[in-house]
Amino acid sequence: MPDSKTTHQNSRKQFDAIEAIKSRRNFLQLLGLGTSLIGVGALEGLVFPSSAMADCAPPPSKVPAIRIARDCRAITPRRPASTLTSAEIIKLRAAYKAMRDLDTSDPNDPRGFQRQANIHCWMCSEAAASQWVHGSWKFFAWHRAYLYYHERILGKLIGDMDFRLPYWDWDVASHRKMPSAYTNPGNAANSLWNSTREMSATDELPDEDVGEDVMEASMTADTFEEFGGTASDNGIPEGVPHGSVHVDVDGDMGTFETAGKDPLFYAHHSNVDKMWSDWNQGSSSHTNPTDAAFLNLTWNFYDENKVWRSIKASDVLNHENQLRYVYGPAKFRAILPCLLQWVAVRTDWRLSRTVKLAQANRVTISRALDSGGRARMHLTDVVVPMDKSAVYRVYANPEAARADKGPGSDDYLGTIPVVLNDRKGLHVHKRTRNVTLNVTGKRFERLAATAPNLTLVERGAKENVRRVMPVTARDVHFTVAAVEK
Ligand code: C2O
Repeated sequence: MPDSKTTHQNSRKQFDAIEAIKSRRNFLQLLGLGTSLIGVGALEGLVFPSSAMADCAPPPSKVPAIRIARDCRAITPRRPASTLTSAEIIKLRAAYKAMRDLDTSDPNDPRGFQRQANIHCWMCSEAAASQWVHGSWKFFAWHRAYLYYHERILGKLIGDMDFRLPYWDWDVASHRKMPSAYTNPGNAANSLWNSTREMSATDELPDEDVGEDVMEASMTADTFEEFGGTASDNGIPEGVPHGSVHVDVDGDMGTFETAGKDPLFYAHHSNVDKMWSDWNQGSSSHTNPTDAAFLNLTWNFYDENKVWRSIKASDVLNHENQLRYVYGPAKFRAILPCLLQWVAVRTDWRLSRTVKLAQANRVTISRALDSGGRARMHLTDVVVPMDKSAVYRVYANPEAARADKGPGSDDYLGTIPVVLNDRKGLHVHKRTRNVTLNVTGKRFERLAATAPNLTLVERGAKENVRRVMPVTARDVHFTVAAVEK
C-alpha cells in the first residue's frame, strides 16, 4: 500500500494507469500478463474506477506465473458428448454445478464459471488486439491450453483428476444436434444448459457447416500454415467448421466475448482440438510449426489450485504425453483420401475481377478432378462485413446469390462464417479472411464455362433484407491434388 509521502506520486501514477487502461493497450501488461516490468505490487495501491475496468479482466495475481507443472496423471480419453453414460453425465453436471456455485460463493475465485468464461472474453475482445487468440496460429494452441486448465479445475471440484471434458463430435452425421446432456432438461437445474442459444434441441447443424466436404478440406490441408494458420492468418478449420458452429448455436456462443458462458463451448472446442489431433496423426507430413516464435508463445492461466501458471505452445503439442488425454475413435481419419502434393494454379483475378483461367490451367484442374483428385479455390483476404455474427455463402454469380438455393445450387461454392468478438465493437466494419472452398467436378465445369463473378450472400436472412455483395479479395487461385491409387 502507498505511504503518505508517495501519495501524490501515486495519484499521478493512477491517472496515468487509468489513461493506459482507457487505451486498453497496456492493461494486460499492468496485470503482469505482458512483458511490462511494472511489478504487481504497484497494482495494490491503485483503485480503478469500475468504468475503466474491462468487463472481463482477469483477477490480478500477486506473484509472477510459475511454469506448468509436469502432469503424471493417467492418460485418459475424452469421450463423445452424445454418447456419455448416465454416470458420466452426472459427473459432468456436478463439475459445472460446482464451478457455477463458485460464482456466488466467491466471485473472485478464478475457477468460478464466470471467471472461466471471462478468460475467453479477455483474450478475444477486451485485451489488446495483439493478444487475441483468433485469426492466427495461436488459435489451436491457446484453446488447447485454456481447455486443459478448465478441465483440471472441473476435475478438482469433483475430486477426480481423471475427469476429462467430453467433445461434441458434430462431424459424425448422427450427432449434429446439440448433445442432449446440454439441452435436456432445458432449465437452470441443468448446469450444462444455457438459456440464450438460438439453436433448439431438435435443430441439426447443416451439412455445409460440418459435413464430409468441409471436414475433408481441413483434414487434408497439406501444411500447418493451411491447417492452423500463420502468425497473422487463420487456417481453414478456424472458419468452417469452427466459426460456423458458433453462429449456428448463437446466443452466447455467437460472439467470442460471451461464448465461454455456454458450457457447450468447451465441448465444441474439444472437438476442434480433436481435429488438430487427428490432423497431426493423419499424415507424417502434418507437423506443427517449429519456429521459435510459435513454440515460445506463452500464456497464463489459474490452475485448479488457483496457482497462476505459464504455459507455452510447446507445452501443448503432444496432448497425450504432456496433457494426459487422448480422443476416442477417429472415424473420419480412416476414410480420408491420400492426396498427393497440392499444386497451385493461378487465375487472372486481379486483372478482371472475375475469375478467369488460362486454358491449360483449366485442363490441369479438370484432369485432376476426372481422375478422382481434388480441387480447391483459395480466396485471400476476402472482405466480410463485421456488423453481426453470420454465415455468408459464396456463389459463382450474383443471380445465384440472390436466389440463395444453398448447396443444391450448381453455382454454390461454400461458406464464410463471421463470428464477432463482441456486440459493442461495431466500429470494425470489415475484416479480411482467407477462405478455402472445395470445388467438385460438376461445379468446376460450370465455373470454367462461365466467367464467374464471385458473390456473397448472408445465409438465412429474409429475402427483403438479404445482403448480396461482390467478393473483394486480394487474390483468387486454385490448388489441385491427385489421389494416390
Ligand atoms: Cu476462442 Cu471458438 O473461440
